[in-house]
Amino acid sequence: MKELRTAVLGLGRIGWQFHLPRIHQHAGFNLVAVVDPLPDRLKEARTVYGVKGYADCDALFAAETPDLIVVASPTSFHADQTIAAFRHGSDVFCDKPMAVSLGEADRMIGVMAECRRKLMVYQPHRATAEVVALQDILRQDLIGRVYMIKRTCTDYTRRNDWQAFRKNFGGMLNNYGAHYIDQLLYLSQSPVKRATCSLRTIASLGDADDVVKAVLETENGMLLDVDINMAAAVSMRPWHILGQRGAIVLSDDTSAWHVCYYRPEDLPVIPVQDGLAAAERRYGSGEKITWQELMIPISDFKPVDFYAKCYDYFALNRDPFVPVTATRELMRVIDLCRQDAR
Ligand SMILES: NC(=O)c1ccc[n+]([C@@H]2O[C@H](COP(=O)([O-])OP(=O)(O)OC[C@H]3O[C@@H](n4cnc5c(N)ncnc54)[C@H](O)[C@@H]3O)[C@@H](O)[C@H]2O)c1
Repeated sequence: MKELRTAVLGLGRIGWQFHLPRIHQHAGFNLVAVVDPLPDRLKEARTVYGVKGYADCDALFAAETPDLIVVASPTSFHADQTIAAFRHGSDVFCDKPMAVSLGEADRMIGVMAECRRKLMVYQPHRATAEVVALQDILRQDLIGRVYMIKRTCTDYTRRNDWQAFRKNFGGMLNNYGAHYIDQLLYLSQSPVKRATCSLRTIASLGDADDVVKAVLETENGMLLDVDINMAAAVSMRPWHILGQRGAIVLSDDTSAWHVCYYRPEDLPVIPVQDGLAAAERRYGSGEKITWQELMIPISDFKPVDFYAKCYDYFALNRDPFVPVTATRELMRVIDLCRQDAR
């Protein structure tokens, strides 16, 4: 099995709790080094994984040339560290958001092409069992043409870490927007032609947005309605998928997709009225639609194993699970939202 000599930059929540254990578990990856400015975290990595630690990328690249760099540092470092990795001869698996702006993302893509290197961004919300199940249901075309997906993420959090501050490019548009907007772009499979967005700072202890309301209109005619609200004292339903002949929502306990639809052949024929006086002064046609109901357990589906996909792409040259063109579209849409919110 081809082995990818791998280094991880940033030993925080995602670096320590996700990337390092997954790299350690996968036989195709060999963790050769870690980078973090905090000496205690380097020491912890040496103790747990027996791995060499460096205080910054310059020190890492002076000593090693890994095949793969996993960028899990705070967002403002992603562009420069990725570009330094490409110029040093390494490929990059970068955490979301790819960068702090579309301009930075384009700079990274330009250097990737120039150095003939590879880049994939960790966008895990396209890999959940929930999304795998939803794609399967949509493929069955039960609810007809999907014209709207409403995605809501609610909590009440007085955020106080670096992600709460604009100077660090924090805020929920950058942070969770990179998850939920990506998820909707993945499901809609269409570029966005128009975006409206409002940002507010309500419960956060910092100055960056913690309430995001965005409506994206895609070229294939879908409305993608995104609510990321970290100042909501009551939670709202996470998903509404609306089609011409039905709808899909998550069950209250989130364990199943609830599909409600009608079969076209079951619709009664109703006449269209001429004239400007509603017949018999009645509201509505009085038709009775026979609705079909399905509960589809999410446990019937498996999430995508991201590190298996990483290995396929970086070691075996298979197509990337998240193509860089899809990440660029996400960055373009986040930029459109930011511009509209100004
Ligand atoms: N994909 C996901 O689900 C997910 C989840 C959380 C965070 N993230 C992303 O991962 C990145 C890190 O977020 P986090 O929540 O793990 O942050 P964190 O605050 O928990 O950890 C950041 C770590 O990076 C280190 N660091 C600081 N400057 C550095 C530098 N120049 N080079 C290397 N390391 C440096 C810090 O010392 C710390 O150990 C962010 O871009 C964030 O958006 C993604």
